[in-house]
Amino acid sequence: MSDSNSHFPPPVAPERGTTLRDHVLAGMRAAPGATGEFTSLLSHISLATRIILSRVRQAGLANMLGYTGEINVQGEAVQKLDEFANSVLINVLERSGHCGIIGSEELDAARTAGHPGKYIVLFDPLDGSSNIDVVSTIGTIFAVLRRVDPTSPPSSSEALRPGRDIIAAGYCLYGPSTVMVLTTGQGVNIFTLDPDVGEFFLSQSNVMCPPRGSLYSCNEGNFARWTDGVKNWSNWIKGEDKEEGRPYGHRYVGSLVADAHRTLLKGGIFAYPADSKSPAGKLRLLYEANPMAFIFEQAGGVATTGSERILDLAPTALHQRTPLVLGSRDDVKDYVDFAAGNR
Ligand code: AHG
Repeated sequence: MSDSNSHFPPPVAPERGTTLRDHVLAGMRAAPGATGEFTSLLSHISLATRIILSRVRQAGLANMLGYTGEINVQGEAVQKLDEFANSVLINVLERSGHCGIIGSEELDAARTAGHPGKYIVLFDPLDGSSNIDVVSTIGTIFAVLRRVDPTSPPSSSEALRPGRDIIAAGYCLYGPSTVMVLTTGQGVNIFTLDPDVGEFFLSQSNVMCPPRGSLYSCNEGNFARWTDGVKNWSNWIKGEDKEEGRPYGHRYVGSLVADAHRTLLKGGIFAYPADSKSPAGKLRLLYEANPMAFIFEQAGGVATTGSERILDLAPTALHQRTPLVLGSRDDVKDYVDFAAGNR
């Protein structure tokens, strides 16, 4: 265990290490004036992800594959698992008593819980839902903000805050293993679920995104719709130059959680640029781009629209979309220079 964990109490299960609960509690004990509500909120989010996982694992058997027949506010066919994940998160968060406002990809508008609650939670309950039926990696993405006045009656407009106001962000990846990536503003930690115990255990501390990688991740099928600058970047990164380590390898799952997680650990760049079909970009600012941007900046990475810092964008709508380019500092700089026409 690295020195950074020296202030933790001894692990509850020495052979397994520190649980997510231990880790968050230790953070609370180190925070002056902490009431335990933030810790309790994160524990509730952890519970929701484990309930979602229970259905994701059985999707093929529990008749959870396929569509409900409804269309959500995004104009996308709602998948049964999407709906289930959304309702689990809403129910668990409302029962926590700490959440005044909830914003979700699957809700037409942000909803106010029946009580004041100190926090705002914004989430994509199941990112990558088009991959559900083909058993590819999917996940839950979330961001937590503190309400400006927790005693006032909650208002849905409170969800429209810039990402720099985020106090915690994370994602739970339902893949070959289940991992929770979490930051509360003091670096990024990764917790792996032990399915036999039903607990997340600390598996990687203070994760840092390498300053440069060797992989790029984007949907090359959109090439014809990109700007000339982005096309030039795509051709450059595929070009042969042994000294500069090009061509980069190309990896693309089509689930932001999966493509971002690989980029966080291995370095490189993920890009979903604006294009002629989606001039504002495809990915959603409040519950996809912002939480990922907060995580990457906490890990020494970068997250931009291609010209602006994601966390500085001022939201005007719950489902606002944005171009998203994130990853290693040097790789993102190359992209920004090409996109601006400087290379
Ligand atoms: P969905 O949840 O509808 O599958 O969308 C997933 C998002 C994001 O997770 C991923 O990075 C992106 O859409 C993939 O979009 P394309 O399929 O257009 O490449």
